[in-house]
Amino acid sequence: MVDYASLFSNNLPRSVSMPEGSSDQVKYIFSITNAVPEVISARKYLDAIGAGLESGGPESLAAYPPPTGHNGLRELVAERLAANRGFHASPDDVFISDGAGGAISIILDSFINPGDAILVEEFTYMGSLRMMLERGAEPIHVLCDEDGMLPDALEGGLASLADAGRRPKFVWMIPVYQNPLGFTPSESRRRALLDIAQRYNVPVLENESYADFRIDGDPLPTAFSGLSDQGDVLYVSSFTKLLGCGLRVGFGVLPPGVRQALPQVNAENLPRRGVSHLATMMVYEYLREHEAEHIETVRSALQVRRDAMLDALERDFPSFCEWTHPQGGMLVFVRLPEGADTWATLPKATARDVKYNPGGVFRADRGRNNHLRLTYSHNSPDEIREGVARLAELFREEGYFEG
Ligand SMILES: Cc1ncc(COP(=O)(O)O)c(C=O)c1O
Repeated sequence: MVDYASLFSNNLPRSVSMPEGSSDQVKYIFSITNAVPEVISARKYLDAIGAGLESGGPESLAAYPPPTGHNGLRELVAERLAANRGFHASPDDVFISDGAGGAISIILDSFINPGDAILVEEFTYMGSLRMMLERGAEPIHVLCDEDGMLPDALEGGLASLADAGRRPKFVWMIPVYQNPLGFTPSESRRRALLDIAQRYNVPVLENESYADFRIDGDPLPTAFSGLSDQGDVLYVSSFTKLLGCGLRVGFGVLPPGVRQALPQVNAENLPRRGVSHLATMMVYEYLREHEAEHIETVRSALQVRRDAMLDALERDFPSFCEWTHPQGGMLVFVRLPEGADTWATLPKATARDVKYNPGGVFRADRGRNNHLRLTYSHNSPDEIREGVARLAELFREEGYFEG
């Protein structure tokens, strides 16, 4: 028998703690922002694959794909960003990645040395946080209000790093229906934050993975990338939440200086990153035919689910708990009284077939576990009501509802 353990690399990513129960299979999945399942049409997806193969011919699959990904899709991304996000990028600046996560991992691999600081929101998406921690980065959380990072807190964080002779690699934000806090900073807040980052000469990374999911409320403000002409904003987003997480198709938009300078984003390296050209063809053909109608179907499905979750919280959770009322996206962030420990309680929830994310998975210090995130994109409204009822029963038994 080969002793494989002795052969493993000693340069594996660092391990990052996750709560017990987080990989359990359950019926009431409030822990993942899956795409809405019933908007995925086998017929239309197959037609889109057929259209891609017919228009490109056998050569389009026989050959390796272009280094930065499907040319038509890169053009479509640039057109969508100009039309929807006030951001005018050249298709040459766009690269197709295996989900937003793939773009994030390329960017982190290109920039991060162990010990590097990255300023992130008070709670931030667990996947990119985990990738930062695995690479030995030091994410520094910046206090937020309902309009995003607080400018004074960002300035304070940057100033104390500068005093210590440290220059962080990024101000890292999810400025549309933030995951998990739900906010979308206004244009004036964006300008204030950009101004501070620019004064400290630190690039901004914006992750707009939820920009297609406006349910109601105000139209989205212009992206950070559209507010700066300094080439200091990197952009990532994804089609996975819109068309299916299994597709693994996302993208990054990089200022020319980044694209040209760095090995991980050097075009020659990109095809090895595992984006399927077949999947990108499908995304391209499908969006050209069905984009508007698909987005509207997703929007109305999310509206019904969001309302079911907010109604269920209203019905089952005491009023001294607080939760967000998102105008878009796929999740609600809940605050329980101090002392509640949603990290510890997760296995008891999964034993009742419900899964959520404790606040600590969105924090480098794994703390603030009187919070939890509940997603509503996957289950039906009836399932959402049942799952929230089960969670409320558990939290009541745990004494979390005693105020
Ligand atoms: C903010 C954010 N970024 C990135 C991702 C990962 O996206 P993808 O599946 O496209 O890699 C997610 C998934 O939940 C997310 O919420």
